[in-house]
Amino acid sequence: MAIVGAGPAGLTLAQLLHAHGVESVVLEARSRDYVERRLRAGVLEQGTVDLLRELGVSARMDAEAIEHGGIHLQFAGDRHHVPMRELTGRGITIWGQTEVVKDLIAARLEAGLPLHFEVQDVTVHDVESERPRVRYRHAGADHELECDAIAGCDGSHGVCRPSLPAGALREFSREYPYGWLGILAEVEPSIDELVYAHHARGFALLSLRSPTLSRYYVQVAHDEDVANWPDERIWEELQARTALAGWTLREGPILEKGVTGMRSFVVEPMQHGRLFLAGDAAHIVPPTGAKGLNLAISDVAILGEALVALCRDGDATALTSYSARALRRVWRAEHFSWWMTSMLHRPPDGDPFEERLQLAQLRYVTSSDAAATSLAENYVGLPWG
Ligand code: FAD
Ligand code: PHB
Repeated sequence: MAIVGAGPAGLTLAQLLHAHGVESVVLEARSRDYVERRLRAGVLEQGTVDLLRELGVSARMDAEAIEHGGIHLQFAGDRHHVPMRELTGRGITIWGQTEVVKDLIAARLEAGLPLHFEVQDVTVHDVESERPRVRYRHAGADHELECDAIAGCDGSHGVCRPSLPAGALREFSREYPYGWLGILAEVEPSIDELVYAHHARGFALLSLRSPTLSRYYVQVAHDEDVANWPDERIWEELQARTALAGWTLREGPILEKGVTGMRSFVVEPMQHGRLFLAGDAAHIVPPTGAKGLNLAISDVAILGEALVALCRDGDATALTSYSARALRRVWRAEHFSWWMTSMLHRPPDGDPFEERLQLAQLRYVTSSDAAATSLAENYVGLPWG
């Protein structure tokens, strides 16, 4: 197997294949240091946690991650708790994507298995045959790898998806007029569980990474320049959007800040010949539902099982239905992420009709057990199937 990309999707797939005795080579364009520092998601569903445990890469997560049984929705001056564990029997785990990636890389390198960083000029060939090939340049030499299948786990700007013939894939997408300015701050989180705040000045999210690191976001323009946001302005906006009587948002040094534009994107099918797309290479969700990382992991859980059947038993039937199985879950997450995004963000023109609809929906999900359960079961993650 050739795996392009050492993000959560590629690394988890490699670990899963190794657990079943299937050999793979992982090719990554960036350096190890860059991949291990890239600050991204932080909420893991139970299915993700279970798979990482099964794969033997959970020791640090089991010791240090933080379990949450709910989230708060804040709007019209009040904070409402959604008791997800009570409603669904399941919770979420707060553990950074960077930490997941570090442990997967360490496991692979300790086992002496091939994972090449700073690989250049990756190209894929003969994907319509049963022996596709990947060419790449590494450490000053050209290489060619012949394999049973290629996993395109190379994210939204990778090479695998664009290398497929025109017309092989259909793309679905939606741009949102919003972005998130995210910060990592060295300060004890001021919250017991995540706070999603609807506010006339725009959405804000209070999250965390550890007992000493807070991860906070404010809604900004899609293409906002981070240079317009000195630290004082960020804290002022966070304070205004999350203010609550009797509660204080603690401030601290900002270690990192960055802007992410929001987008929904899906490609169908997620496979062509012997090239299989997984994770951000096949789909993007806006981060409001905390689904991006979890979808990447559930894709490779489905794909890994099918590849093991091919490589170990010579049975390609499960592979033919990979895309159909994965897409059912992908579209559910696309809908949930779009719905959460639409309910919580201030439209650019501040349309008052839209705002009233948002408030009506927020009141409904915080007062009806049926509506809250629907939000909760999507947020904690529907069963993998
Ligand atoms: P990636 O993590 O993107 O990994 C792809 C890998 O492929 C990368 O290491 C890349 O360097 C490599 N690659 C690319 N091109 C090539 C090539 N030509 N050759 C070799 N290797 C290549 N989700 C959330 O749920 N919450 C969040 O807060 C959140 N924040 C995010 C912030 C940002 C800036 C971004 C971009 C995403 C964020 N996401 C978030 C989404 C989540 O992080 C992704 O869904 C997740 O990283 C997907 O994992 P992946 O392995 O599919 O892709
Ligand atoms: C995060 O902690 O980075 C985070 C949490 C919840 C989200 C998005 C990001 O919906």
